[in-house]
Amino acid sequence: MEKKNCLILALDVTDRENALRIANEVSEYVDSIKVGYPLVLGEGLGIVKELAELAPVIADFKVADIPNTDRLICEQVFKAGADAVITHGFTGRDSLDSCVKVAEEYGRDVYVVTEMSHPGGVEFFRPVAETIAQMAADAGATGVVAPATRPERVRDIRKIIGNDLHIISPGVGAQGGSAADVINAGADWVIVGRSIYNSDSPADAAMKICNDMKC
Ligand code: C5P
Repeated sequence: MEKKNCLILALDVTDRENALRIANEVSEYVDSIKVGYPLVLGEGLGIVKELAELAPVIADFKVADIPNTDRLICEQVFKAGADAVITHGFTGRDSLDSCVKVAEEYGRDVYVVTEMSHPGGVEFFRPVAETIAQMAADAGATGVVAPATRPERVRDIRKIIGNDLHIISPGVGAQGGSAADVINAGADWVIVGRSIYNSDSPADAAMKICNDMKC
């Protein structure tokens, strides 16, 4: 993904009409559009191809299964036109290797969740976040997902992965995180959903976040 605005839209609406309207309105401000279960379950995987015409799509399926099932999921995601997939890491190195292998075959990217951004994200993830980050680096992932709600954790994770891997960071706005703070802490991109798609003017909301970050 090319870095222009350091902003990824989390498009968690559930219908095609709204999804395309919002994506069109903000496309000049975002480097990628993250699509997850809400929209794909609402409209089918075909929405990925439509959105990919506006910006590269990250498929946030938080893939977390045995290697063979992970392989099948990643193949479907990339065939559908997604530029990248988000996987979990707690399923182990063999599962992650399977996703990275498919991504390499298709020339696409893999981001691994290290610690989630919501309050419950500290319960089970925090003790293993560094280990998952190291595994993501060892496995050749493109980058990791780390919480904008806890910029200090982004700093910790950056120390582990160095500068070769990217950090994409959700939790700005609706979850309380500040885009500027987490970019200063070492994130490459912020991921923003509700603060943009629930705004009366998604384009203005996206532009404001870009201006705040000065990335
Ligand atoms: O609406 P909001 O800006 O809070 O959206 C954040 C997005 O990032 C959601 O799509 C959520 O599923 C996702 N996400 C997250 N924390 C993670 C990984 C993904 O909030 N660790």
